[in-house]
Amino acid sequence: EKGGFDWFMRKEIYEQPKAVADTLLGRHDENGRLTLDEVRISEEELRRIDKIIIIACGTASYAGLVAKYAIEHWTRIPCEVELASEFRYRDPIVGPTTLVVAISQSGETADTLMAIRHAREQHARVLAVCNTNGATIPRESDAVIYTHAGPEISVASTKGFTTQIVACYLLGLYLAQVRGTKFGDEIAALMGELATMPDAIARVLEGMDPVLKLAADFAEERVVLFLGRHVGYPVALEGALKLKELAYIHAEGFAAGELKHGPIALIEDGLPVFVVIPPRGRDMLHDKVLSNLQEVRARGARTVVLAEADDHEVLPYADVLVPLPQVSTLLQPLVATVPLQMFACELATLKGHDVDQPRNLAKSVTVE
Ligand code: M6R
Repeated sequence: EKGGFDWFMRKEIYEQPKAVADTLLGRHDENGRLTLDEVRISEEELRRIDKIIIIACGTASYAGLVAKYAIEHWTRIPCEVELASEFRYRDPIVGPTTLVVAISQSGETADTLMAIRHAREQHARVLAVCNTNGATIPRESDAVIYTHAGPEISVASTKGFTTQIVACYLLGLYLAQVRGTKFGDEIAALMGELATMPDAIARVLEGMDPVLKLAADFAEERVVLFLGRHVGYPVALEGALKLKELAYIHAEGFAAGELKHGPIALIEDGLPVFVVIPPRGRDMLHDKVLSNLQEVRARGARTVVLAEADDHEVLPYADVLVPLPQVSTLLQPLVATVPLQMFACELATLKGHDVDQPRNLAKSVTVE
């Protein structure tokens, strides 16, 4: 049933091109307008939404952090992201014009479920992004977008994460359509770009050799840092979480711009640092992270750089280069996360850990 793979996790990493393609499938009506799976919220109500709060746990919360950038950019609706376990136990400002988006692969996570119950008591509208048909969270929501990733067996979430990002992007574009913040042709162009992602992810998967080789050098490492900026920041957090849960290594993700506000003190000779370099676009983002890379390299870090394959500027500062295909900034997490998943899977395998069932963890956390 693992389809010839050693672990469900590795199989699920390789299923991502299909999972993303399936999540994008059949999202238009006959007039070419975007549609969602189940929406029991009227367009009128959706036009009145003045705040979005994304709630989730773990990896799903990082998908939410990625989604915030796209949703705010496309809809101009303020969007916060909060851990479900935190949201529930404060006094959040939520009302009928708040859209609470609950992201959960399993649809059964207790913290997320309690958070949406709390939100509904305050009359918020709740939309679930979920991978499990008929699970409790979508059943208790006003609207649902299903990720069509297929069953995710491995405790570590992989295709769950990438398809959650895709589903949230669909939500962002749908809201932009309903509220008129993007024209039909702009939405079609963005959908066209999303449609190229399965191929882009497949290309990343074909180039995994450097990542597998790298894992063999990391058996003795005790600390690993990950840096990213903008949507690369949640990618860094996700890369670190994967190493914690699978390889039992103390790993941290940082927003690269925060380095000089503290974390750079951690850098010492030989410390491994993964850096996610944004695409070379028109904005300053790429150069900013490049200079963060230079800063850590100058202090002796051993750098693993994820960057566009022909990004020659990073080469002098990369001990190892993990090449990424050229995609736009907002879509980069869909390709940049894949090598980090694979790296954690391979390293945990080499260390002799149970990759699919890491110690102390359960697939679905149904207790608070
Ligand atoms: O089923 P959910 O998406 O609600 O699960 C949320 C987290 O428990 C989950 O993403 C967890 O962080 C994973 N083990 C990470 O790989």
